[in-house]
This record gives sequence, C-alpha cells and structure tokens, in this order.
Amino acid sequence: MKITIIGTGYVGLTTAVVLAYLNHTVSAVDKDSTKLTLLQEGKSPIHEPGIQSLLNEVGHTIRFTPTVAEVVPDAELIMIAVGTPPKIDGEADTRHVEQAAREVAQVCLPNIHYTLVIKSTVPIGTNKRVAEVVEDVFAERKIQGNVSIASNPEFLQEGLALQGAFYPDRIVVGANNNNALDALRRLYQPILEQTFDPPTTLPRPPSYHLPSMMTTDPNSAEMIKYAANTFLALKISFINEIAGLCEQVGADVTEVARGIGLDTRIGHRFLRAGLGWGGSCYPKDTAALLRVAAQAGYQMPITEAARTVNFEQRKRIVQKLKTVLKTLNGKTIGILGLAFKPNTDDIREAPALDIIRHLVAEGANIRAHDPIAIPNAKQALSDINVDYIEDVHQLSHNTDALLLVTEWEQYHRLDLRKLAKHMKTPILIDGRNVFSPQEATAAGFHYIGIGR
Ligand code: UDX
Repeated sequence: MKITIIGTGYVGLTTAVVLAYLNHTVSAVDKDSTKLTLLQEGKSPIHEPGIQSLLNEVGHTIRFTPTVAEVVPDAELIMIAVGTPPKIDGEADTRHVEQAAREVAQVCLPNIHYTLVIKSTVPIGTNKRVAEVVEDVFAERKIQGNVSIASNPEFLQEGLALQGAFYPDRIVVGANNNNALDALRRLYQPILEQTFDPPTTLPRPPSYHLPSMMTTDPNSAEMIKYAANTFLALKISFINEIAGLCEQVGADVTEVARGIGLDTRIGHRFLRAGLGWGGSCYPKDTAALLRVAAQAGYQMPITEAARTVNFEQRKRIVQKLKTVLKTLNGKTIGILGLAFKPNTDDIREAPALDIIRHLVAEGANIRAHDPIAIPNAKQALSDINVDYIEDVHQLSHNTDALLLVTEWEQYHRLDLRKLAKHMKTPILIDGRNVFSPQEATAAGFHYIGIGR
C-alpha cells in the first residue's frame, strides 16, 4: 500500500520504518528541517534500540519530505502522528492534528478514496472534529472529497518501540465505515498474520500469539488509549502506595508484588515500586483525561490520586536522604540515571529532573550520570548547577550519598564494594530496587530501597 505518515517523532518514525520493512511504500512528512536532514541522511533523530539498524535496511525506501502536497495526493492511507502537547490546564492540544488534517484535505484529489488515520493521542471526540475540518476544506475547495477517517491509537513503549510495533498485544481501530476498516486490515495484515520474516535484531518472541485487531467506534478507540495509560499509571502508583506502608510496618514490597502478581487477575507486570512514572505519556495523558472529565462535569478521584502518589514519590525520596544525612545543605549527592526510564535519552517529565531541583533547593551539590541522556538533561536543567560525570566511579568519589533514579542495565553490574570505598559516607538510596539489600550492605553500604 502507498502510505504517508505525518510527523516523524517516536510514533511516526517507528511506524514508518516498520511499515517500510513490511514492504509498504512509505513517505514521511515533517516540518522540522534538522530532523528531516538527519533522516534523509539515513540517521535516526531518536535513541531507540534497533531503529538505526532498521533505518539502514529500509530507510532508503522511505521518502522524507517537508511537503504534504508531494506525498498525499497519490497515497492510499495517510496517518497523522503529530504531537498533542499539554495546554496549561492539562488539556491535550490538538492544533497540530487539525492542521495536518487541513493540509491533507487541501491536496486530496476529488473522487479518490483516502483513509485518514489518527494515531496521535487525542481527546475523545477528535475523530469527529477532524471529519468536520476535512469537510470544511472540501466545501471551501468546492470539491467532492472521499475521505474515511479512523482512530488507531498507538501503544508504543519507549525503549521497546519496535518490539511493540512488530509484535503488538492488540491493534485498536475506531471507525464508522468499512472502507477505513478494510484499509487498516490490509495495512496490518503482515502483523496480524505474522507473515513477515522478522528482522535479525528483533526475533519473534517464542511465546508470542497472533494479535487481534479490535474494531470499535471512534470515541471508544480514543478512550481506550487514555484508559490503558491511566490504568498502567495507577497500577504503578498503587504499588508505590503499598511500598510506603511496607516501610512503616516492616514488609518488603518486592515480595508483596511477587505475591499479588501470582494472582493471574492481577499479573506481575507494572508492579515495580520505585520513583514512579515519567515520560511523554502517563503524566500528560492522566492530566488530559482529568480535563476531559472536568469538561464533562465528572469526578475521577482514582486518577487524581494516582497522580498525587506519583509526584509525592519524588519528594519522599529527598526526605529520606535528608533524614539519613541530617541536612542536605553542602552535601554532595551522586545521581545515577537521568532518563525517565532505561534505553532512552528521553527526559520528558523524568523523576530525576524534579529530584535534582528539590535537592538543589535544599543546598545540595549534584553530580549526575546517565549513559545517554546527559545532553538532554543539560538543556532541561540549564538554569542550575549540576556536574555531569561520565564515569560512575569518578562520580562516587567523596560523595555523601548515591541515589539511583533510573534502572539502566549497566548499574545492575556496578562493583558496589569499589563504589562504597571511595565515598565520604557510603549511603545508597536505590530508587528502583535494583540491588539486593543484603549484597549492598555486605559491600559496605548503608542501603535504603523503596518499600523494603
Ligand atoms: C507508556 C505505555 O506503556 C505505552 O503503551 C503508551 O503508548 C505510552 O506510555 P512509556 O511512557 O514509553 O510507555 O513507558 P513505560 O514502560 O510504560 O514506563 C513509564 C514509566 O513508568 C517509566 O518512568 C517507568 O520507570 C515507570 N514504571 C513502569 C514503574 O515505575 N514501575 C513499573 O512497574 C513499570
């Protein structure tokens, strides 16, 4: 199929390379000239495991362009994957989605059928709004256009984006017409039937089952995205709330999570207690859902509480450090991990940023390490003084405490004995419960985890 994707962020670019790999003819539009130049040179503008090697393989088949008019008229299916940043009140701003729809409608040829797919995360009702935008443009152009609109929310997890795209749990499509459903079924057929040869770097997981394509109405599809993210966010906040109580009563939250996770109705995943969620989705999507609710005059106390618990975790950890060090003023704290999760350089809403700001406000000196997110963190924290250090052992020298914020794989293998030896006071606050308390203690650390 001939496909045009508008927006080459995490979602747009991942979708573009995966669809190109599946032998569709793909064009991708972006207005950001820096990004576009990189992509035209075959380089990925994002850090995402596997994306560069896939770009090396199929990037040359994708046409990257800033101009919608070049690649929409002869496309069969057009996907909108532009950002929906939060407004001040948390509402998702759909301006870029509507603008993209307008630009598409301006260059659609009359009497040719197109499927216009909304992949961006959008408030409930956006599908209908986009249909109106498209109809308005056709009326202005005085043409008879033929565009079917579908909502196809994306469940991409950063760090695992390609895995999720080739081997999804499910594909959700919201549409009121069969043309759009047919087009999306053909688009995803190789994934639904798993008929493609997996990329060498991304073998099919042995236990993987064929995914289903769930079809529903557009409003429900839009709601599914928000409800899924909110549910996962509150699952994490729930275990963090339990972790706080575990600390008070002398239980170990990792054991509790193991015990409740064995109940298949609950499941093991997303029960890792720690410093909570950040990133581009949960903070923004829970806020946006609350705005949708407020506009509908509806209360959502569970979602509100999930957010409160999440952001409190960042303050509680600073309090823990303060308790153990008596004061933070003049103390040197080593931060391990800046990205909001491992395998990405994304620092949007990363707990590390808030924690560093709280610590600096208390008078602490900060040394920070991250395998790849330092350049982004430097920008986000340009107004405060942070020493960025590329070697963890060097970072630990003469520090008063280490605080692990992101569970990068390489931190699991740190030589704790060596680290503890060079610190002023060997205090290890393990914000993601990465280390065994026994091993850390044996290595000479005063170990403090979350909920254990
Ligand atoms: C999430 C959803 O998983 C994805 O489906 C959606 O499309 C976008 O939002 P992402 O933000 O990339 O994806 O990351 P995810 O792996 O879900 O983790 C989000 C945050 O939760 C991270 O900060 C992570 O550290 C934290 N987390 C996750 C926990 O604290 N505990 C857990 O058990 C799991």
